[in-house]
Amino acid sequence: QCDLQGLWRNELGSDMTTLATNTAGTFSGSYHTAVAATNKQILVSSFQGVQQHPSAKRHPTFGFTVQWQFSDSTTGFVGQCFVYHHGKETLETMWLLRQEVLSHRDTWKATRVGTSIFTRIK
Ligand code: BTN
Repeated sequence: QCDLQGLWRNELGSDMTTLATNTAGTFSGSYHTAVAATNKQILVSSFQGVQQHPSAKRHPTFGFTVQWQFSDSTTGFVGQCFVYHHGKETLETMWLLRQEVLSHRDTWKATRVGTSIFTRIK
């Protein structure tokens, strides 16, 4: 069974706390990134997400969007929760980080993409 609620850490050392998913499948939480594309001081930032089939305890897909408190950027994550042997849960995700650029001429360099795996630490 996969439960998104809890404290998770990814391969960069970023920590994320996810609150309980409601019956409609929406959830929220806070994200403490270990790294940033800006030189500003990192602040804990909130996110809003949705999960598919919140009551069926399978391997749900989900997505969430982080509204960074210290930069003009937005990150969207999509992923799926898996359970391995011994009940170890992981969140396998991909993300897009959109940076604010001042001209549409700069849009070509405004989006970063990556993969990220979160494991439960609590
Ligand atoms: C910014 O740099 O403007 C905001 C912080 C972005 C952090 C990114 S989001 C994707 C990747 N995974 C993380 O845990 N942190 C970075």
